[in-house]
Amino acid sequence: MTVLSPDAARSPDAPTLDVDRNFADSILAGLTASRKTIESKWLYDVEGSRLFDAITTLEEYYPTRVETGILERYAPDLAALMPPDAALVELGSGSSVKTRLVLDALPGLSAYVPIDISAAHLDVVARALSADYPEIDVQPLAADFTDRIVLPAGLAERPKLLFFPGSTIGNFDPDGALALLGRMRALPRVTGFVIGFDLIKDEGVLVRAYDDSKGVTAAFNLNLLVRINRELGANFDVDAFRHEARWNPTANRIEMHLVSRRAQTVSLLGQRIEFAMEESIHTENSHKYSVSGFRDFAAMAGWRTYATWTDAKTRFGVSVLLPD
Ligand SMILES: C[S@@+](CC[C@H](N)C(=O)[O-])C[C@H]1O[C@@H](n2cnc3c(N)ncnc32)[C@H](O)[C@@H]1O
Repeated sequence: MTVLSPDAARSPDAPTLDVDRNFADSILAGLTASRKTIESKWLYDVEGSRLFDAITTLEEYYPTRVETGILERYAPDLAALMPPDAALVELGSGSSVKTRLVLDALPGLSAYVPIDISAAHLDVVARALSADYPEIDVQPLAADFTDRIVLPAGLAERPKLLFFPGSTIGNFDPDGALALLGRMRALPRVTGFVIGFDLIKDEGVLVRAYDDSKGVTAAFNLNLLVRINRELGANFDVDAFRHEARWNPTANRIEMHLVSRRAQTVSLLGQRIEFAMEESIHTENSHKYSVSGFRDFAAMAGWRTYATWTDAKTRFGVSVLLPD
């Protein structure tokens, strides 16, 4: 954290904010680029994590429901990959709801390390898990998993099962996903990697999953602007933007955008950001895979697919990867 006055250059009387430099630099770089973007990891402040949980309960948002069903059925099969004293390390753990299915299926686990960028939310979730699973050493790690992962002392040398549900891998473009899979492959003493990914399907089903009728996903996306106003002292008129979900058939991905309803200028950290009418900020990608495509992709990063579990309608996949 660095203390600076975000609008000091233009408003000497502006209150001083405690600004997260990583957040500020990333937002400024994204909004001053020729195609405006915001990295999707910034969707998750406390309110973003709450809204994501609300999304997972929506009828249109099938991924959580379907992946949960797959794990209910197959999680006990993971026991074969768990040597004694093993730890479960989860990337982007959110509310760790699906994790409970794995913890229940693997009573021999000694430790659980949930890693999430949404620090305050992670803290609440980890306390609840510690209370519910007193026999497991719960060691939350508030971190960006795209940075180098430094595991808590004593865990680095223990056997580890990695868990990455929620199709969060889909938020990365192919190069980013490959790099992440490669870095996980390089972690010491990993016995397996359980990873959930969404499958290519009908465009209408996909778009509805990211643009629901109750407007919860819209609120989740627009909360980015609320967060930037609060944490960086910007002056976005949130009502002057709308949420949009688009299917990009070339890249096999759903894109989330915030579209400017009119020409406008926003002030941010001493800069003036101009928006043309209908210009968008690209805020999230959710890449979709085929089962064989994901297997080939994982192989490029040095992982062998031991099993891929899908639901009966082949809407979602959970792969169990082993180090080659
Ligand atoms: C799509 S949600 C999935 C949550 C949960 N795993 C599930 O399956 O429902 C993505 C989660 O990953 C976290 N996240 C996103 N990008 C991250 C990053 N770069 N580093 C750490 N956590 C991240 C978010 O805070 C959020 O909790």
